Amino acid sequence: MNKAIEDIQKESLEEIDNAKDLKELDSITVKYTGKKGFITSFSKNLSNLPSEERPAAGKKVNEVRTAFESALAEKIVSIKREIEEADTGIDVSLPGVRPAQGALHPVTIITREICSIFSSMGFNIAEGPEVETDYYNFEALNFPHNHPAREMQDTYYVSENILLRTHTSPMQARVMEKEKPPLKYIVPGKVYRCDSDITHTPMFHQVEGLMVDENISFGDLKGVLTSFIHQIFDEDTSLRFRPSFFPFTEPSAEVDIRCVICRGKGCRVCSQTGWLEILGSGMVHPGVFEYAGYDTEVITGFAFGMGVERIAMLKYGIDDIRKYYENDIRFLGQF
Ligand code: DAH
Repeated sequence: MNKAIEDIQKESLEEIDNAKDLKELDSITVKYTGKKGFITSFSKNLSNLPSEERPAAGKKVNEVRTAFESALAEKIVSIKREIEEADTGIDVSLPGVRPAQGALHPVTIITREICSIFSSMGFNIAEGPEVETDYYNFEALNFPHNHPAREMQDTYYVSENILLRTHTSPMQARVMEKEKPPLKYIVPGKVYRCDSDITHTPMFHQVEGLMVDENISFGDLKGVLTSFIHQIFDEDTSLRFRPSFFPFTEPSAEVDIRCVICRGKGCRVCSQTGWLEILGSGMVHPGVFEYAGYDTEVITGFAFGMGVERIAMLKYGIDDIRKYYENDIRFLGQF
């Protein structure tokens, strides 16, 4: 019995191994484990054996059946895979190609960082329309008609009174028209100017800030912006407030930081001055409060605006602003 079943085992496994297709495997199955199959008849004959031989023989037959079934299952899988490969030309056993993962654009990363710093200081975030009226972009911000200050910003006009906003400042007027002080807002968004060179793109991003209440002073402006600059750059970045002009603030100041590239020694990036202009700011002009209907005797406030691309260029050491918008994956994948 032992020799016979071992022969059957050897033969059946060899046949499975040599089988060329599923049909052949079907007949091998019938031959060995079908109703009248070899392995089946061994099982049936167990009862004819002397009782002392039965347990060992039963165990052996079971082992042979198990080995047969697992070899068969494996062979079925491998034949099916071959069929699939022949059909598609794809080797399904090769490791897959990992899908490329997206990443945030550097301008998005910095915008979020700026917003999160101001959020932590209690500012709310608002967004406004990119197609804006002349009224909000200029008029309500105290830019008189035919005033040369309008030409500081090369504007794309849609029609006589509709334009692409040249800055995020129009949201100052929109927010104040809707709400009463105290106000603390930050406004990120796209702005447009007819300008293009290595430091300008026709579309870029700004973040506007506005804080309005009773007794807001230039000291509050300095405190908030100093804290912001120390968080977005280094804790030890020195800064200076330089007198400037904007129609919607009085007094106005531009904020410069010590050049982050040369640390103030003078280099190409800071035009040998050791300083980099980083944002515009000032105390909200009473004329702007009048448009909002606020009492200029009691209410004061400050505002500021900064370019996101510029901050990102300084943080990441990028020298050409146009790289942001060429969509070169090798550039964008670094952030
Ligand atoms: N809107 C100005 C610009 O685009 C930047 C600016 C300056 C915004 C002073 C302000 C501010 O809120 O107070 O050039």
